[in-house]
Amino acid sequence: MSYLLLYSTQDGQTKKIITRIAENLRRSGVECDLRDLATVKQISLAPYQKVMVGASIRYGHFNSVLHQFVICHQKQLNQKTTAFFGVNLTARKPEKRTAETNAYVRKFLMKSPWRPDLCNVFAGALLYPRYRWLDRIMIQFIMRMSGGETDTTKEIEYTDWAQVDRFSNEFLQI
Ligand SMILES: Cc1cc2nc3c(=O)[nH]c(=O)nc-3n(C[C@H](O)[C@H](O)[C@H](O)COP(=O)(O)O)c2cc1C
Repeated sequence: MSYLLLYSTQDGQTKKIITRIAENLRRSGVECDLRDLATVKQISLAPYQKVMVGASIRYGHFNSVLHQFVICHQKQLNQKTTAFFGVNLTARKPEKRTAETNAYVRKFLMKSPWRPDLCNVFAGALLYPRYRWLDRIMIQFIMRMSGGETDTTKEIEYTDWAQVDRFSNEFLQI
């Protein structure tokens, strides 16, 4: 039994989340192939029993590699057992942490030809000191507007790891 886990990340948080999911699944006896969508162009999903895709948001958008992957593989994706999760800072607010209440994930699913069996949203990380100057200013502005952390010396991980572990179990059970 083998699962394919794909991710799109900029600063590493989505990779960290999906790596934790892979560890959970492996502990349950499942073989997992973990791949970065940025390096995967065409891949056959046939050898895999289930497929999971995770991707983060930057300035309101998922990376184009996610959209390209879905377009190229939509037929295979819709024939498999699949899961999708989005990662962003809006989801630091618990009420914006579901596929229905998180605008980025809701819009993605509305427009996507892929219908995942399971969807979720995880809060990402705020890593001010690691951002380029302009990104730091922009994120600080967005955080100020939305009542979040504005101290640019801080690094905060908002990811709820218990939620990630529950999602791993749900993926095993579908
Ligand atoms: C330049 C930049 C732009 C971002 N834009 C958004 C945004 O529009 N909405 C949001 O909720 N989070 C936004 N985020 C937060 C990221 O989604 C969050 O930091 C996440 O953990 C990134 O995951 P990754 O490291 O896997 O790319 C942004 C972060 C950065 C650095």
